[in-house]
Amino acid sequence: MSSNVRIEKLILNNYRNHNFIELEFKKNIILICGKNGSGKTNILESISIFNSNVGLKKSNLRELIKNNMKGPIELFGVNLLCQFNKRSLKVGLGLRKNDSNFKKILSFEGSKSKVDIDKFLNIFWIVPKTTFLFQNAPEDRRNFIDQMILATDRNFKKFLLLYEKYKKERMKILKSWNDSSSSWLDVVEQKLASAGIIICDARRNFIKQLNINLSEFNSTFPSLFIELSGEIDSILRNKPAIFVEDYFIKKLKENRKKDLLTGKTNFSANKTDIIVSDKLSGIDARNHSTGEQKMIIFSIIFSFIKFLESKINLRIIFLLDDVFSFLDKNHVMLVLERLDKLNVQTLLTDIRNDWVSKHPKLSSIIQQINIDDKSLKVDKI
Ligand SMILES: Nc1ncnc2c1ncn2[C@@H]1O[C@H](COP(=O)(O)OP(=O)(O)OP(=O)(O)O)[C@@H](O)[C@H]1O
Ligand SMILES: [Mg+2]
Repeated sequence: MSSNVRIEKLILNNYRNHNFIELEFKKNIILICGKNGSGKTNILESISIFNSNVGLKKSNLRELIKNNMKGPIELFGVNLLCQFNKRSLKVGLGLRKNDSNFKKILSFEGSKSKVDIDKFLNIFWIVPKTTFLFQNAPEDRRNFIDQMILATDRNFKKFLLLYEKYKKERMKILKSWNDSSSSWLDVVEQKLASAGIIICDARRNFIKQLNINLSEFNSTFPSLFIELSGEIDSILRNKPAIFVEDYFIKKLKENRKKDLLTGKTNFSANKTDIIVSDKLSGIDARNHSTGEQKMIIFSIIFSFIKFLESKINLRIIFLLDDVFSFLDKNHVMLVLERLDKLNVQTLLTDIRNDWVSKHPKLSSIIQQINIDDKSLKVDKI
């Protein structure tokens, strides 16, 4: 069994509807159940926020603080006790007010300096909105793929952040143009193009692997094929990266005026959409039925799990929010069994838990937590 990170304890203080809650996770598969509005999704969100500033609800940090919290911001917090490489590690997340915004503060074993959480904790989630992937904007499809890459490639995040940084820097120079701007702009554009090519290439390699996995397992869609649609992606298919980088730089230079006028980077690594189609029929997933689209998403998730199986050191936790409302129960069960075998801790939410006992194979691997249980929420105030 491969080693992986595992959360053993989660403590929330003044997090959304939770005054105080302490949960102990003892198995790979944790089912959090409770009635509507009891705070199940909030619990998953509190974990997702460690790797992301917006989390699985795409909220801003201010919204995470319990309404009407009395007292200083230090009373808000998410604390995890993790197990990684046979070591127990304490990680915490708090907020600090910066002018009118909030800033995330991470702590590692009590220290707040230079916490590199991605080193051992990466969160991948599937939420009800994932079902609408093919109706959503290209950005959502791109993020879906990027989230999978991020979970296994720590450098990818670095380049995504650098790319955004250089993009902003370039726009700032364009807006305050003067005689000395040109050479400065050349340098920034070169850096932007270089980060952009690395990002496109990482996506291309990852999708290549997904396609191999998709063609290998017995899917309802044996000829499912994933492609990247961006101009950079299509050139990268036939030309070496160094050529594409030069082309990228040329386009950025050409577009300076246009980008300034429109306020955006018109030629970008993030103009890519993820096209999923049936190679035999040529039908784009967007044109498949709702049920078929769910199957396609399931197939992609399954091929991602297969991809994870080829990795030695995993640092990933899966969050599956309300998946039974949109994915077929038997398929979810298959996913859970695979994740358990892979030693990937998975937290899932559902209103009910009665289905667990009906699956003897699963009941031994699932820990059920009912958050309506008052003993979990001893009011500390
Ligand atoms: N900042 C906040 N302060 C207090 N309560 C909040 C805050 N943000 C959200 N809530 C409340 O948290 C409650 C729980 O939300 P959550 O989405 O976790 O419910 P859930 O258990 O997942 O429900 P469902 O089964 O319907 O998906 C909601 O009633 C919501 O109004
Ligand atoms: Mg919910």
